[in-house]
This record gives sequence, C-alpha cells and structure tokens, in this order.
Amino acid sequence: MSQFDEVEVEGGEGIQVDLRHLLSESLDAVFIVDRSTGVIRGVNRRCEELTGYCLDELVGNNVEVLSPRQPSPKMSPTIWEELLEQPGLHEEVRIERSDGRCFLAEMSVTLTTVNAKQTSLLFMRDLTERRKLERELITKHLALKEAYEELERTNKELERASAEIQTAQRWLVHLEKMATIGRFAAGVAHEVNNPMAFVLENLAQLRGIGARRLPAHLDHLDGARRRQLEATISEQQELIQETIEGADRVSQIMRQLHSFSNVSDQEMEPTNLHSLLESSIMMVNNQIRYRARLERHYYDVPEVLCVPNNISQVIVNLLVNAVHALEDGNKDQDVILVRTRTTGDQVVLEIQDTGCGIPPENLSRIMEPFFSTKARGTGTGLGLSISASIVEQHGGTLEVESEVGRGTIVRMKLPVRSAPPATAEAKQPTPEATRKLQLLIVDDEVYYLRAMKRGLGRAHAVLLSSNAGEALQILAEHKVDLILLDLMMPEMDGVELYKILVNAHPYLEKRVIFVSGGVFEESIKASVKSTGLEVLNKPFKHEELHSAIDRMGIWQKS
Ligand SMILES: Nc1ncnc2c1ncn2[C@@H]1O[C@H](COP(=O)(O)OP(=O)(O)OP(=O)(O)O)[C@@H](O)[C@H]1O
Ligand SMILES: [Mg+2]
Repeated sequence: MSQFDEVEVEGGEGIQVDLRHLLSESLDAVFIVDRSTGVIRGVNRRCEELTGYCLDELVGNNVEVLSPRQPSPKMSPTIWEELLEQPGLHEEVRIERSDGRCFLAEMSVTLTTVNAKQTSLLFMRDLTERRKLERELITKHLALKEAYEELERTNKELERASAEIQTAQRWLVHLEKMATIGRFAAGVAHEVNNPMAFVLENLAQLRGIGARRLPAHLDHLDGARRRQLEATISEQQELIQETIEGADRVSQIMRQLHSFSNVSDQEMEPTNLHSLLESSIMMVNNQIRYRARLERHYYDVPEVLCVPNNISQVIVNLLVNAVHALEDGNKDQDVILVRTRTTGDQVVLEIQDTGCGIPPENLSRIMEPFFSTKARGTGTGLGLSISASIVEQHGGTLEVESEVGRGTIVRMKLPVRSAPPATAEAKQPTPEATRKLQLLIVDDEVYYLRAMKRGLGRAHAVLLSSNAGEALQILAEHKVDLILLDLMMPEMDGVELYKILVNAHPYLEKRVIFVSGGVFEESIKASVKSTGLEVLNKPFKHEELHSAIDRMGIWQKS
C-alpha cells in the first residue's frame, strides 16, 4: 500500500490503517493526483485492474495518460483540468487502457491536502456493466412496450369482432322475427282474403238489389208508406256503402300484409310510384292522421323498375320516422309532405316533416344499423339502414337533410325504368270490348263460388265447380271461354289441375286465370310463372278481372 503512505489522516493509528485498507479494497479506482500539475501521486489496486497499467507506469505520469485521444481545443481546459478544478463534479470519461481498449468511466473528485500540497482524490468507476444492464433494460422495456401495444391491438380487434358478432346476431334475430311475422301475415291474409272475397261480392250485390230492384216496388205504394220505404232504402244503401268501404279497407290491409310477407319474391317490376305511395300511406295513415296534415305534391313521374314490396317497406319506414319526429297535440300546425318529381333519369320521392329534426352529430350515424334515439323497445334503429340498402339494391340513393327544430327531408332517388312501358291506356278494356263469356269458376270455397255467380252472372254465363272432378265433368259437356282457377285447393293445387285440364282440352291453354287467396309456396309460384298466366288476388274487382281478360285477348278469341 506504499502508494497511500503519504496520505495524511487525522486520528489514531487504527483509523489510518483502516483508511488505507479501505482505499486499497475500494471497488472504485482511486487516483491521488497533484492538483496543480495533474501528476498521479498514488493509486490503489483497482486502478491497475481497470487501466491495465502497473503502479510504476501510473505513478509519476500525468493523469491525461488515461485518455490520450481526447485532446481539447487550444486554450480550453481538458476534461481532467476541469475535474481537478471542480471538486464534486461527476463526469463520464472515455478511458483508454494500456492495451488500447476503451471503456466508459464515471469520474468524481474530492480535494484533500497531502504533505501541505493541494491534492485531488480522483475516483473512477467502470460504467461498462451498468451501461450494458441499462441497454438490456431498455431493450426489455421496448420489447415489453411492443408486446403491450400488440396486446392492445389484439384487444381492439377482439372488441371490434365482438361488436360485429353482436350486430350480426341482432340482425339475424331481426330477420328471423321479420320472417316469422311474414309467415304469420301470409297465413292471416290467406284466411281472411277468401271470406272477404265473397263478403265484398255479396255487398256489391246487395247494393245493386237496393238500387235497382226495390225502387220498382215503390210505384205500387203511395203517400206515407212510399216515403217510409224510400227512407229505409236510402238508409240501407248508406249502410251497405259504409260496410263496403270498411270491407275494402280490410282487404287492402290484407293485400299489404300479403305484400309484406312476400319477402322472398325479389322480382323487379315496372311500378307506378304513386300507387305504391298510396298503398303505403294507407298502412300508416292511422298514425299520421292524429299527428299531422298529410300533403301530396305529385308530379307526373315515369314508372320505376322495382320490387314493390321492398320500396313500399322503405316508404312506410320513412313515414313512420316522420310521424315519430312530430310532437303530440300539434296536429293543426304539423305537416308531412310527400313530393314526387323527375330529375334527369331519376324519379325523386321526398318525405318532409316539420318535426324535431336531427342534430348534426347524429346525422352521420342515422344510417348505421341499430342507431336509434328512440326509447328501448320503441325503435330498433334498423329502419333507415334497411331502407338505404333496399334503395341501393335498386340502383338508387337515400339522402337526408335536416335542421333541428325545423324538420327533416328524406329523399329517395330511383332510376327511371329504362325500357319504355307498354302504354297502359291502350290495354285498358272498354265496356264495348266486352261481350258475354262462358266462364267456369273452380274454387273449394262454396260461398265464394255463389257470390261470384251472383256478381258475374248478369254479364256472363257462369259455371261453378268446387273440385277437380266436377271441373272435368263440366268441361266434357261445355265449351268455356275462360276458367278462373283457385291456386290453393285441398286436393291438388291450381297448376296441377290446370295441366290436367289442358291435357284433356288443349284449347284451354291460354284461357285460364289463376285466383289466389294469399301467399303460396315458392314451388307453386315457380310453376305458375312457367305457365305465363295471370294471377288475380282475392278479393278483386270486376274491372280487374276484365283487365286481365283483356290482356289475354279472350274477347277476340271467343
Ligand atoms: N324524420 C326524422 N326526424 C327526426 N329524426 C329522425 C327522422 N328519421 C330518422 N330519424 C333519426 O334516425 C334514427 C334512426 O332511424 P331508423 O329509422 O333507422 O331507426 P328507428 O326509427 O329509431 O327504429 P326502427 O325504424 O327500427 O323502428 C331515429 O332513431 C331518429 O333519431
Ligand atoms: Mg324508423
């Protein structure tokens, strides 16, 4: 420990020995440096280990031997000068060992006096290991950060996937619900349409009897009895008329239900938008009439090619939304305006309301599935998204303009049907064109048969049959101009019977009109289509039948 012999330490001998021992065993290298010259006066063992120099090479040498390749610009103090001048300073210095290898060391200085000379104790600590650990720590930290970010990304993807699954689930539930409602509606429509057909037919007959036959009997009466009977007849006519209107409404609603249930029937057909609007309005008129005045601004628009049920569904959705946007009890001021026009090759339908409007932050979201501001259970938030998708499938667009407190305009644009429609007017039957036909009506509903005979019997000769065997029997004995054939009968469906009849009497091939009480199965739908024959939905008006006969050219054939 001779290198520390000169260190003066106050205190007893024991303390001095301890201090030497301490310095020699220190993990830091300790250099005793002459402060004014920078000459190393003493070192401990660690100095030799760290620098690779031996004691003799270090003692007596300038401290700058430790970092010879760090020349300082002229006039500016070297790192060593700075260190020796400023006790307490901690600096990181690149040290070059005797074998030329370098390492980073932390240097710090304390001042002391040795033999009345200002002396610096220079402590050197190797930072290599610490730096290595720090680098490892940083690498691990970065890897951890990356793993965490990856985890976050995966988490977000999981959340998104879970939200998508939930949306799909709700969508499936909705579709299933709609399909169930559709099937239910189809069943109800079928059951109601059959009796409605003969109720309406009979009511029309009753009205005819009251209007035509009864007045003839009045001639035989006079005075008070005549007036009394006249009043009774007029009252009866009124009642019958109102009943017909009610029954008409029921059958129209059934027709709509039937249309709604017909979800899988995706065939596009040339459609008059105004008729579609009217039938759709009818479905929600009950809701509209208590909330607002409905105004129609219809302009002459060409037909559009669409699936009528689907576009009707859109119109109903938009009308219901408009109604819901209106406050209760403001019926006299609030208006729902339905407007149609043509722009270029598009037919435009606008539904405008004077309701609450949509705040800008919601406007961008209202087409999202399940976005709804309505109370839970009141709105599913599917109306607009389904509507937009239906309109898009038709090659059209759905736009919304809205101002809070002023109202909303929803604009549907559909492409004009490209092929020019056959002029409906040219095909309209004229009363002169009709002549008495020999009709055969085949239907398992006996009341319906009787009602039809009463209804059509005055204009045409009518034969009735309630089953296939009877029909074949009649055809063997009579030549008929036209058969009205029910599509759904217990023994066999209408198309099967049609084939049997045509097989036996080929002349009947284009002399059949199918009659349907509601939705029929897909397979039957396809076979009906293959015949190319018309289908009339019960209950139908006489004019509808005449139009169908006219389209078939039966008047000319017979
Ligand atoms: N005419 C309108 N006036 C004001 N807000 C509207 C109008 N139409 C739609 N909205 C807003 O857009 C939201 C979404 O409408 P959408 O028809 O898709 O769903 P919904 O009406 O809430 O429920 P659903 O139609 O499925 O019963 C509504 O909840 C409402 O906030
Ligand atoms: Mg809605």
